[in-house]
Amino acid sequence: MKHFTSVNQIEDLDALILLAKQIKANPYANKAIGENKTLGMLFFNPSLRTRLSTQKAAANLGMHCITMNLNTEGWSLEFEDGAIMDGNKAEHIKEAAQVISQYCDVIAIRSFPSLTDKEKDEEDQVINSFAKYATVPVISLEGATEHPLQAIADIITIREYQTKKRPKVVLTWAPHPKALPHAVPNSFVKMMQLADVDFVITHPQGYELNPEVTKNSLINHDQNDAFKDADFIYAKNWSNYNDYGQILSRDLSWTVNPEKMALTNKAKFMHCLPVRRNQIVSDAVLDSDSSIVIPQANNRTYAAQAILTKILRNED
Ligand code: CP
Repeated sequence: MKHFTSVNQIEDLDALILLAKQIKANPYANKAIGENKTLGMLFFNPSLRTRLSTQKAAANLGMHCITMNLNTEGWSLEFEDGAIMDGNKAEHIKEAAQVISQYCDVIAIRSFPSLTDKEKDEEDQVINSFAKYATVPVISLEGATEHPLQAIADIITIREYQTKKRPKVVLTWAPHPKALPHAVPNSFVKMMQLADVDFVITHPQGYELNPEVTKNSLINHDQNDAFKDADFIYAKNWSNYNDYGQILSRDLSWTVNPEKMALTNKAKFMHCLPVRRNQIVSDAVLDSDSSIVIPQANNRTYAAQAILTKILRNED
């Protein structure tokens, strides 16, 4: 595996889930493969789960970790080819990515979208520029358009909790006071399209995700109807995609609450975290036995460790 920046790069999902399961059962079994290898983690944006779980995954494989908050601690980077660098950007990505590659065997990067320039965000310039100029493998820790490690943790969790061969999984939009990116829902949709599940997306009219991502996935604008017989409810906010980056609705009738969960087949509640209580989901649901957000977050380690293992083994 050269780079891992998209769910699209997963060639054999079952094999990847099996690897993650084996790692979870015996996390230190491959402590030798990362010996004397360094993972460089570069953060342009905040993180709790991704940073800590990936660092733990690297440690489980015997790797060293170097972490840098590049946006506050590094030189301001220029990404444009042919730029005349007479402004406040001190270093070009061409040198930065190659230099970091001298110190690290794998580079992992988090970089959120602007949510102001759709075209630019869709280029996922930071992640893709590192992938282009780095001389070592690059992993996305959430880019402008995808959060693939989260999606692997999500499918591992669904597999662990599913009680039927083909569960019904519902991705529901839910209200949030701030404009949020599309990376998590995009990667989750792509993952559900790969998985053996009945998948439904529900959101208010006008909150369609990128149709190139949702493709033929079923969309139901009636949240209550979508919840019927669901085995998993995955809640997530995203800002408007068509009216790019705008918040057009904060309708709290979309908050996941016990009444809505009662419509389901005793569904498990999932969210990538961090989650806004009593916006996205009510306390009563998040604090109930139906919530599996903590085991879902725990699986972030095994998702990251599975991808690092494949990269270190030079597997596709
Ligand atoms: N789910 C997730 O990526 O969490 P962090 O933003 O805290 O890393």
